[in-house]
Amino acid sequence: MTTLRPFLDTPYGAYLAREVPPPDDELTRVGPGTPCGEYLRRFWQPVAFARELGPVPLRIRIMGEDLVVFRDKGGRVGLLQLHCTHRGTSLEYGLIGERGIRCCYHGWMFDVDGRILETPGEPPSSTLKDRLCQGAYPTRELGGLVFAYMGPPSTPPAFPFYDTFDLPGYRLEPAGKFMLPCNWLQIKDNSMDPVHTSFLHAVSSGYQFTEAFGALADLDWEETPFGMIYVATRRVGEHVWVRVCDFMAPNVHQFTREIEEATQEKLASRPVIIRWAVPIDDTHTWNMELAQVDPGWRLTAEQIARPGFGQSDDRSYEDRQRHPADYDAQSSQRDIAVHALEHLASTDKGVIMLRKIVRDGIRAVAAGRDPRELLRAPGPPIATYTQDTVLRIPPEKDLEADKRLLRETGHKIVHGRLR
Ligand code: FES
Ligand SMILES: [Fe+2]
Repeated sequence: MTTLRPFLDTPYGAYLAREVPPPDDELTRVGPGTPCGEYLRRFWQPVAFARELGPVPLRIRIMGEDLVVFRDKGGRVGLLQLHCTHRGTSLEYGLIGERGIRCCYHGWMFDVDGRILETPGEPPSSTLKDRLCQGAYPTRELGGLVFAYMGPPSTPPAFPFYDTFDLPGYRLEPAGKFMLPCNWLQIKDNSMDPVHTSFLHAVSSGYQFTEAFGALADLDWEETPFGMIYVATRRVGEHVWVRVCDFMAPNVHQFTREIEEATQEKLASRPVIIRWAVPIDDTHTWNMELAQVDPGWRLTAEQIARPGFGQSDDRSYEDRQRHPADYDAQSSQRDIAVHALEHLASTDKGVIMLRKIVRDGIRAVAAGRDPRELLRAPGPPIATYTQDTVLRIPPEKDLEADKRLLRETGHKIVHGRLR
């Protein structure tokens, strides 16, 4: 747990506040055997896009583990430990076969589950291949993303199927993949911090989305069975705009496209982007996305895969300084944000709740239990709440009454009772 640094109340007092305490290891370290690493490994995690699997293997690093992922010529996806179990040559140089992958060095052939199919240099009487396995993790594909389960082999969970994986009128498409040079948790903190959409994306550096984002929102947060939501309700002229976004534990969040102008009524507009923050290691993280796309938008696969404005490092330093965006705000909180140095305020309620969900899950795993959000048996699609709803509700005369109206409207939308 974090011990906060004493409150600095001395002007010109930097001398008194130079020490940088360590990060919260329990919440941030992701390597094998760490409490958080063990927690994250209880859930299916995306590790690559299907579009990245070609004629040669793909070397990847996930939660500090070096791995190779490939699709064999029979169409099956394999995720194996990078170094060959014979004498350690990297399987990124392996030859993809009809069934599995062959190490380039001495030709050992591995099936996608790690079983050894051939040890061609050994005598026919050798039983080594029947007794030994290459380390492998199970995979499955959805929407062009390859997911892996990297936890204990005896207890794979069910795959969580969110209701937004199948939205009438939309197609689930593989979208962006981009790396942030920082810890996974500060990226997820951002997902339950809606006040930044008014400042970072509007007031601080010009409108990055729509002008409607510049209106300060009434903010609310609620736990859900699989994570939590924020509800940001804004007054935009004669309209009230309710934006709801989900966090699904342990490292998924979902949001609507940032195109809402809030000038016309609409109920529960739900084309969403679903984003996983998958640690590469403690200080680097992949954001990987699926997106619901209206075929009528006529977007190409390249357009869908392009990261949104300011999400990646695709701009010059000068441009990022003048118009900072998510990439800059999140990665500049240090490579691992130090919670002991923070001064959390009223708008950080969502961040506090999110960290509690994560910490509770970590401690459950450490105690030999399942995290609350882990799905053990397949069931109906998991309800999520992400939406833009715009209602025409003229403003109340005084500010306080209008604030109350916003709060009530947001609450009614989330709990399904309109007007
Ligand atoms: S090192 Fe892989 S087969 Fe020898
Ligand atoms: Fe943002």
